[in-house]
Amino acid sequence: MPTISWDPSMTTGVDSLDNQHKQLIAWLNDLLSAMSVGRGRGEVESLLDKLGGYAVMHFGHEEDCMARYNCPVAALNAAQHKDFVATFSSFREEFDRDGATAHLVVRVESELMRWLAGHIKRTDTQLAPCVRDRAS
Ligand SMILES: [Fe+2]
Ligand SMILES: [Fe+2]
Repeated sequence: MPTISWDPSMTTGVDSLDNQHKQLIAWLNDLLSAMSVGRGRGEVESLLDKLGGYAVMHFGHEEDCMARYNCPVAALNAAQHKDFVATFSSFREEFDRDGATAHLVVRVESELMRWLAGHIKRTDTQLAPCVRDRAS
């Protein structure tokens, strides 16, 4: 089963953000495995609840950090977060309607896991030089 893992190319320069990324990655891996092996609906629902709430909390914290450090990608980051929240709620609706279908398992990989890894590497990591410049 494809999983994603945190690696140093995802460093943002802010430990609390890195730790939140690790938690999000861990829960996405759990979600994919729970859905692929056909775990009970309740288990998948509780993972989706945790993930959705945690992602929103994380996005807020990260947007504050980017604003504080005058990060040039702050607006882009916030716009991408908004897209993810929309994707996540359409995912949630599909799950509530159809359950853990093969189509939805593919969506976890392509729209949630791959999105998160790419977003962290391309957008979130642009915070690191801003934090470094401020420290020097
Ligand atoms: Fe972000
Ligand atoms: Fe992030």
